[in-house]
Amino acid sequence: MNITQLTLEQTPPLSVPFRFFLTAPLFGILAALLLLGSGPTIFSSRWSLEVITLTHLLTLGFISMVIFGAFLQFLPVLVGSPVPYPRLVSTLLHLLLTIGSLSLTSGFMMTQVVLIEMALVLLGLSFIGFMSIIGYSLIRTKSNAATVTAMRLAWLALAITVVLGLILGTGFGYGYNLSSLAKLTNLHLGWGLLGWVGLLIIGVAYQVVPMFQITPPYPAMVKRWLTPLIFLTLLTWSGFYWLFNLNNFSWILFGLMDLIGIEFSLFALVTLQLQSWRLRKLPDVTLDYWRIGMIGLLLSFILGLAGLIWSDLSDTPIYQLQLGILFIAGFILPVIQGMLYKIVPFLIWLHWQNQQLNILTPVRLVKIPHMKQIIPDRWARYQLWVYFISLILLIIVALYPSKLIYGVSMSFMLAFALLTYNLYRSLWLYWSVSQQLIAKSMMENPIS
Ligand code: HEM
Repeated sequence: MNITQLTLEQTPPLSVPFRFFLTAPLFGILAALLLLGSGPTIFSSRWSLEVITLTHLLTLGFISMVIFGAFLQFLPVLVGSPVPYPRLVSTLLHLLLTIGSLSLTSGFMMTQVVLIEMALVLLGLSFIGFMSIIGYSLIRTKSNAATVTAMRLAWLALAITVVLGLILGTGFGYGYNLSSLAKLTNLHLGWGLLGWVGLLIIGVAYQVVPMFQITPPYPAMVKRWLTPLIFLTLLTWSGFYWLFNLNNFSWILFGLMDLIGIEFSLFALVTLQLQSWRLRKLPDVTLDYWRIGMIGLLLSFILGLAGLIWSDLSDTPIYQLQLGILFIAGFILPVIQGMLYKIVPFLIWLHWQNQQLNILTPVRLVKIPHMKQIIPDRWARYQLWVYFISLILLIIVALYPSKLIYGVSMSFMLAFALLTYNLYRSLWLYWSVSQQLIAKSMMENPIS
């Protein structure tokens, strides 16, 4: 693994990213409980409160939660720009995002205006805080590397998503009558899923796929042009969509959306190709999760094309819902889980190394587990299989709503419970080895 590009001395305390990583799967469990409670009717309408709640348990509670942690961890390391007061900042952002996501989703479910109002303040503060810190680092860094460019574009996309989210939430919370509700929602979800999360995944892939999966680097052309092109296409689509009547310009809108689909598919195909060229062909859970994610992304594109060919289909809210489910559960969630299985052991291992250097404990005194032992492959693989089964069941239920939803919710719950177990267990191992390191160093150097 080539870690020389990373500025390791800039690594913040482990608690900074871990509080986010350990909270995220709990939101996955909540999402599974919601599926269980709602039953077979949950996917009967895109606009039901259950669907909007489910969406935000996953997009805010799981996806944004992991991204917050990963950004606070890796931005200082990748761009050599430390986050000021990392413990205080991460505590505040974590509390605001967690309580904000819980109050937004419970406000939706119970139609409690006061909870939604509270959520808007908390989420507004958490995103403004996060974006200010990240924005400052992204402006300060001189780097124009492809990952940094993607992060800058994702930052802009997040700003648009949050502003639109707050406007939509105000409509809910304060009961305003938003005439362009559907348009605003589509813009909000487009910028959230394709812009904020999609661009970020691509930008991070440029760094982590070659580094962690030992593949050749992404082609220079792809790195240079892909994320700016996706951003520009999304911007053009948004302009047409907002300014003009959908019916008159539907072919342009569909064309632009399909262009975005082609751009994302290019990323998926290049990633699959690079993975097939990797130097060490050892089985790896992260790699399998990424493969599932890339195939999920390609399938989303194919479903998107079906909407272009059968235009009657694309106007139906149920089709839009299926597309959203495939994109989130088939592409974003697998990639993020795969990322967790690499980042978490890597960070724990890195902190042990730093600790060993700091307290000058010779390696021979404490046997530091290697990275593969921090989250045992067997347990990670169980979790992967359970998630994969729940994904297949979910796709079936999204196409043909039925009582199988109970199977989806149980397997989804098990998948996130196993993820929780794997992550908490790795933290426990971290603590116990860390304690051993401290104890041995005291025995060796009693005066210090
Ligand atoms: C400040 C944070 C956010 C707030 C207050 C918020 C609020 C809302 C509201 C009120 C709606 C429902 C609109 C309606 O149907 O009337 C909505 C829809 C949606 N939001 Fe958010 N949102 C936020 C962040 C996000 C993020 C970060 C993402 C994605 C990464 C996201 C993804 C979605 C999606 C996919 C929908 C569509 C759900 C559907 O069509 O059923 N939201 N949001």
